[in-house]
Amino acid sequence: MSHYDIVILGAGAAGMMAAIEAGKRGRKVLIVDHAADPGEKIRISGGGRCNFTNVNATTATGRERFLSQNPRFALSALARYTPEHFIALVRSYGIAFHEKTLGQLFCDGPSTQIINLLVQEMAGAGVTLKLRSSLERAEKTEAGFALVLSDQAVSCEKLIVATGGKSIPKMGATSLGYQLAAQFGLRVTETRPALVPLTFAEQVLEPLRELSGVSTNAVVSHGKTRFEEALLFTHRGLSGPAILQVSSYWREGDAIAIDLVPGLDMLAALRQARKATPKLAIQTVLASHLPKRLAQLIGEELDLPGMIGDFSDAKFEKVVAAVKAWTLKPVGSEGYRTAEVTLGGIDTRDLDSKTMEARQVPGLHFIGEVVDVTGWLGGYNFQWAWASGFAAGQAA
Ligand code: FDA
Repeated sequence: MSHYDIVILGAGAAGMMAAIEAGKRGRKVLIVDHAADPGEKIRISGGGRCNFTNVNATTATGRERFLSQNPRFALSALARYTPEHFIALVRSYGIAFHEKTLGQLFCDGPSTQIINLLVQEMAGAGVTLKLRSSLERAEKTEAGFALVLSDQAVSCEKLIVATGGKSIPKMGATSLGYQLAAQFGLRVTETRPALVPLTFAEQVLEPLRELSGVSTNAVVSHGKTRFEEALLFTHRGLSGPAILQVSSYWREGDAIAIDLVPGLDMLAALRQARKATPKLAIQTVLASHLPKRLAQLIGEELDLPGMIGDFSDAKFEKVVAAVKAWTLKPVGSEGYRTAEVTLGGIDTRDLDSKTMEARQVPGLHFIGEVVDVTGWLGGYNFQWAWASGFAAGQAA
């Protein structure tokens, strides 16, 4: 049986970061993944350009963008490994990047640059990477853990679980992390797909289908939580960053409200149009503020024929409600099949926030998405993976 100081399960963002930091400290590290390649989610992330961090992740507002039953849990790790640390690492490899919007940093080139960086760092730190291998059994021993892998038995002093969330099972997501938590007596909070497109009942969806492919800037709100970003109509429902963001807050039975013309005083714009262009139909007026197909559909739904010059303010109020407070009740989401992340996970009450170690099981750590910490869209989830991986890699 081979012995390692540390075995890490999962060669994703968090696992590789933990491996690098532990290896640099002279620890003998084995990182195991059942996939054929490490970092598969990094590869597909950010539309293939990896939105590897968000410069605002550790600002006062950025810190609020991590959802958890205990939102304070993530702060210590995030403060010790900041976006600047990862940016410095990216720069040291000469990887070109740019800020796309809202503090989101993307590679100029393919995401594989980030994977290569991590793999090279692991090699430099003497880490052993074992692919196409999975865990069959884990047991606690006096000295640490005894593990039966699909092709080898190993023992280790410390075990770091970095097997990620449940999203995109096609890419190799499994529930191993949650099962290990249960085996070792840690609590797991309710898990659900997040950063995911929302779906609608057929009667709502049917007229919207013709808008499939249309995108517009919008404010999408759920209660007091609001996101101003792109909204995308698809043949299955609504998507785009604004919807993905709100999906982390939405629960079954809740409504969402959509402002299709953020920042515009629609009533004033309509009154102005009544004066300036009285002969126009409402669809035509709306089309100067919205994508044409969307304006057309709203006009049809409103069923307000005639010229705008003849419209009363009462009619305008109807138009304003339709474009600024469009209220919809999703029936569900597209689920783990397309969700970017899993909300919920290993209950942070059972973990130490500085080391990510299980309070009741010395030597057992959980990091990354498997933990009940979920970031907003826009690089927050990778920043959590880097920071929690760093914390465990320093401690284990
Ligand atoms: P991650 O999922 O990366 O790694 C877990 C590893 O464990 C995988 O390699 C898996 O194969 C392995 N594993 C699982 N079960 C196993 C088993 N039973 N045995 C052995 N190995 C096992 N975030 C962000 O900040 N910016 C972005 O641009 C994007 N973009 C994005 C796009 C898409 C399409 C998705 C699905 C997700 C994103 N994300 C993102 C989210 C981000 O990818 C995610 O939060 C991190 O990858 C989580 O890192 P982890 O290391 O925790 O898990």
